[in-house]
Amino acid sequence: MGALGVPGAGKGAPAAATAAAQPPAAAPACPFARLAGAAGLGGPAAGAASAGPRRAPAEGAAPGRPSARGQLRTLGALVADGLPGVTLHLAAEEAAADGAAFPCWRFPNAAQELGPKYMGGVAAATGWVFPSDPDDVRWVAQEQAPNYKERFLPDAYEYVAGGKGLLASSGEYNQRHRVKCTQPFSQKGQLRKFSEVAAEGSAAMAREWRTAGGPVEVDCCLHMQRLTLDLIGRVAFSYDFGQTAATGRELRGETRKAPSSLVDAVNEFGEAMARVFITPLPVLRALERARWGGVLDLKASWGNMKGAMRPIIAERREEIARGAPEQPRDLLDSLLLTTDWGDNELLEDVVDVLGAGHETTASTLSAALWSVAAHPEVQAELRAELDAVLGREANLAADPPAITWEQLEDLHCAKRVIRETLRLYPAIPVFPRFARKDDVLPSGHSVQKGDVVFLSAYALGRNPALWDDPLTFRPDRFRAEAAEARHPFAFLPFGAGPRMCIGAQFAEMSATLALASLLRGNDIEVVGDRGSGILPVEYDITMHFNRTGGVKARVSPRAADAEGPVPHTC
Ligand code: HEM
Repeated sequence: MGALGVPGAGKGAPAAATAAAQPPAAAPACPFARLAGAAGLGGPAAGAASAGPRRAPAEGAAPGRPSARGQLRTLGALVADGLPGVTLHLAAEEAAADGAAFPCWRFPNAAQELGPKYMGGVAAATGWVFPSDPDDVRWVAQEQAPNYKERFLPDAYEYVAGGKGLLASSGEYNQRHRVKCTQPFSQKGQLRKFSEVAAEGSAAMAREWRTAGGPVEVDCCLHMQRLTLDLIGRVAFSYDFGQTAATGRELRGETRKAPSSLVDAVNEFGEAMARVFITPLPVLRALERARWGGVLDLKASWGNMKGAMRPIIAERREEIARGAPEQPRDLLDSLLLTTDWGDNELLEDVVDVLGAGHETTASTLSAALWSVAAHPEVQAELRAELDAVLGREANLAADPPAITWEQLEDLHCAKRVIRETLRLYPAIPVFPRFARKDDVLPSGHSVQKGDVVFLSAYALGRNPALWDDPLTFRPDRFRAEAAEARHPFAFLPFGAGPRMCIGAQFAEMSATLALASLLRGNDIEVVGDRGSGILPVEYDITMHFNRTGGVKARVSPRAADAEGPVPHTC
């Protein structure tokens, strides 16, 4: 589970934050700008191409509940596949029973009489609404965002962060912080610099794989978590967590562990958070009064993590006092140079960016690597592109140069692989919003004040009414023509509207660079059975593979006498 990589509901849209939620206009020359626009990543309403027949309800009709059997099936989906599974089940399977292409369902909260004060998070809702029409999703996430501005966040967050930081805050505080933290992740110059960091970091991990004397079995989840922690550490505050180097030592059979109090603190915090993630606030407080170890560990590890970062901030303040850099080197520089925030204010944001950007990107990359391994035709097409764009000779070199910004621009196939991965395996599958007032959705269904509306990237991405043969991994869906013909809200792995992910462009960019760097000189194979070609995943709040056996792959250095160039069609 991504301890910090949690979704949040919206709030009123400040101008700058709204602009940040619309990547194409903000950074036209970013290699991802065109693709981002084509897929409608929170972008402006494009021509809606909704599939399937619609049966509009009378204006303001309350969404129905599935039949008794349907409710049982829904319960089964909840037990088997968790909340994301329920959103897909209600959107796709119960759609047949409803007779509408995009049904909307509502489950009233029978326990509401107890009063919200006794409950936390989604349990405090008057009802739970599951829309599936991308027009409804656009309405809630973007067009009527002020009505759906209350965020849902697990109480453990409120408990440790006290309503501060990017993720746990709301209102004016959040707007101010979001604007400042979005800047380095959306400006072209800064993104370009971050692309160098991501390319060099990924090249280092690729080198470790290539020189491991393979074939060697790698734990993709572990290696990708380490790689992304190194990358986000460097772009957030130029800190080298040293995780890629540690992976190399392990692959070479060395056991020496480099001491790092910050790595330990980050890991301890992640583990402590995972133990109490869905515990309601009153229970957390009661457990604290009872001095229960799990809660005490959470508080202690939060304190340790901030404690380990304080000296880094102090050192940076001194450095800047001696002479400010011409250009911010990272998020921390950017915040120090443009705000007068105190250490706590800075720390909370930097920690949130670390958490939100680390495991989400890692699990996306694990799923992408597995998907490429499980689909040799995709691997061949990707390899052809990598040879054409980066050069076969460079790819076969023991230590190839890092991929440049200009080369990144031409890695269309790699970008499509990442997008197809995000469609099938969105790291944050559901982004719920609370309704402040009664409302009527574009589909004609009504929403009551106090309802939680579950917007689901997972259900949108796997809905057969929106995607042909959705359970097939086919990156070509993201060729520009196909993407333009699609509803712009059919693909929302980064959420949408004023609380959309601030790291979307960086995440896609760094994942593409990592995939290309790792596979330009290494072959990858699935370990065991590839099954149907769909990777089993589990979700709590974010995607993980803990109980599905992880993501293992066999990598071997690509042989110099391997097949010659194959035609490049990307
Ligand atoms: C593949 C990787 C990633 C995925 C799938 C992802 C997805 C998401 C989603 C779905 C949300 C909630 C959006 C909403 O409610 O509308 C979110 C929020 C957020 N993400 Fe990401 N994210 C990724 C990587 C990153 C990275 C690299 C960063 C940092 C640079 C980041 C920083 C954030 C922050 C700070 C928020 C909270 C924004 C707010 O509450 O205002 N994410 N992300």
